[in-house]
Amino acid sequence: MKKIENYIAKNINEYNDLYNKSLSNPENFWSEIASTFSWRNKWTKTLEYDFNKPEFKWFLNGKLNITENCLDRHVQSNPNKTAILFEPNDPNQSAQKISYKELHRRVCVFANVLKSKSIKKGDRVCIYMPMVPELTVAVLACARIGAVHSVVFAGFSATALAARIKDSKCKVLLTADGSFRGSKVIDLKSIVDEALLDCNSITSTIVLKRIGSMIKMNINESWWHEEIKNVSDYCIAEEMDSEDMLFILYTSGSTGKPKGMVHSCGGYMVYSSYTFLNVFQYSPNDIYWCTADIGWITGHSYIVYGPLLSGATSVMFEGVPSYPDFSRFWNIVEKHKITHFYTAPTAIRALAKHPISLVESNDLSSLKVLGTVGEPINEEAWNWYDKNVGKSKCPIVDTWWQTETGGIMLSSLAGVTKDKPTYATKPMIGIQPVLMDKDGKEIIEYGKEGILAIKYPWPSIARTIYGNHERYKNVYFTAYPGYYFPGDGALTDSEGNFRITGRVDDVVIVSGHNLGTAPIEDAINLHKNVVESAVVGYPHEIKGNALRAFVILLNNDSNVDMAKEIKDLISKTIGPIAKPDIIQVVPGLPKTRSGKIMRRILRKIASGEKENFGDISTLLNPEIVDKIVKSS
Ligand code: WT7
Repeated sequence: MKKIENYIAKNINEYNDLYNKSLSNPENFWSEIASTFSWRNKWTKTLEYDFNKPEFKWFLNGKLNITENCLDRHVQSNPNKTAILFEPNDPNQSAQKISYKELHRRVCVFANVLKSKSIKKGDRVCIYMPMVPELTVAVLACARIGAVHSVVFAGFSATALAARIKDSKCKVLLTADGSFRGSKVIDLKSIVDEALLDCNSITSTIVLKRIGSMIKMNINESWWHEEIKNVSDYCIAEEMDSEDMLFILYTSGSTGKPKGMVHSCGGYMVYSSYTFLNVFQYSPNDIYWCTADIGWITGHSYIVYGPLLSGATSVMFEGVPSYPDFSRFWNIVEKHKITHFYTAPTAIRALAKHPISLVESNDLSSLKVLGTVGEPINEEAWNWYDKNVGKSKCPIVDTWWQTETGGIMLSSLAGVTKDKPTYATKPMIGIQPVLMDKDGKEIIEYGKEGILAIKYPWPSIARTIYGNHERYKNVYFTAYPGYYFPGDGALTDSEGNFRITGRVDDVVIVSGHNLGTAPIEDAINLHKNVVESAVVGYPHEIKGNALRAFVILLNNDSNVDMAKEIKDLISKTIGPIAKPDIIQVVPGLPKTRSGKIMRRILRKIASGEKENFGDISTLLNPEIVDKIVKSS
């Protein structure tokens, strides 16, 4: 049997060959890739799909457990290799190296803890934890016994956490007494306490001691360190069907409710590992660091699953780029001789604002590959990254993908295919992106702008929205029947390189975080003095986009700091990341005759436009536009 290495492109010709093969016979191609993993039973059919239902099934009737592929395989071949290299928030605390053997042991132990809480295959487990190794242990322990993990980013508020727990009816909650974020300590447990007042599906909560603060333990709550004392470290992996659910991960959408994207075992395994190896060109002694949080898809696919499936050493960093100062990232690169560094454009832009000496005082010569993810990268940031971090010798992979796609869809392959500033460049092997024109027809020529769509299924496409297949169909499969619609605009250059131009729906990417404007408006409207609100994004130097809220108030009482009250309300309902930079009180909002807010005009006002609003004659209240401009 061939190894996965045989299918990793090592030069441009191999990329072209593999790409052509993956298009001319996708089923045969993915079947060969899948054969390089360890399965209990081979699949009987590679792919079954229907864009109209929509339904996607990969490696049908194949049986496996993803943790045997992440852990057991490597425990056999290379037990002492470091799987996780943990760098704590406090630089004076020592880093931890956790070998594949040790990670396997900890995962088995915690899997048994979950079993002791009556968690069985298919049960949902919510994980609300800081970026510490136990978070990875928790994720894999769920997968070991076939429980479905739903990781909620630990920056979300109690209300947001409760909404996610309730939506997927999680039975167990895994959390910590608190988390360290730079010089701050965040009291996670009291957020959890508040959330749980409103969730009756949770039967047990397990709390990791991270801070050591005095906290109150309620009924059905226990300490992680106590629980692991009582169980064995032997745990046979549950046999999963390829299409069984592996995890749910919430992402925001154009309406208030978050979407619980569902990923399944077989296809996600194959695609996350295959893309990791191809895009990053990881070799066995490399030290790979992705700075994302496991609360986002980037962390799922490219801190946990992709790297561990590939037997890599994956760095987990608990802290923030600014603590103790803005040289922290570069200190870590030098300290651990990082070879691969994968971060977000917003972090690059923020770091570029600080003295270059903070970068130059560190030895970055170990770096071989740089990456970016989450939002378009502007040329200036790309060049700064290339010159100062990569010393003009590291390829930069600009990886375009989404929570829904499970893995990287457009990117150069490091050192194999050409990179180009501001372009995500070429499709991943197996991916068929197209641009659509305004009539919903494919644009065949290069050098044009349109709406991005994907033509053929790939193994890690999200299978549904948890509990709402209709919404899944409406959001992703109705705009262009027979295609997947991601919600982004794009253009191509004369060589067919793709550049993402930004969202074409009511989602705004702020500092790399995907935020729907609708849930933020819902939060603002909770205030009893708010009549109506509209939130839009506008370009921001560091964050990429920032938010501006236009609000109509019932009473204009100058003694009340409405901007502060609204921001507090948003922090409480969603989380601090969703706070608008600007809150503007307005006498009215521009509306169409059917009563729809014309966001296009608000977006222009927010970007500083004062007069060129195009045709506003279709508005019910055209005079309001000038009033809003004058009041800003
Ligand atoms: C949206 C998905 C991909 C994991 C992190 C975000 C934007 C993502 C890029 C990129 C331009 C990008 C898109 C996409 N986006 N990567 N390299 N260039 N835009 O996942 O939270 O699901 O957000 O992020 O708009 O649709 P997500």
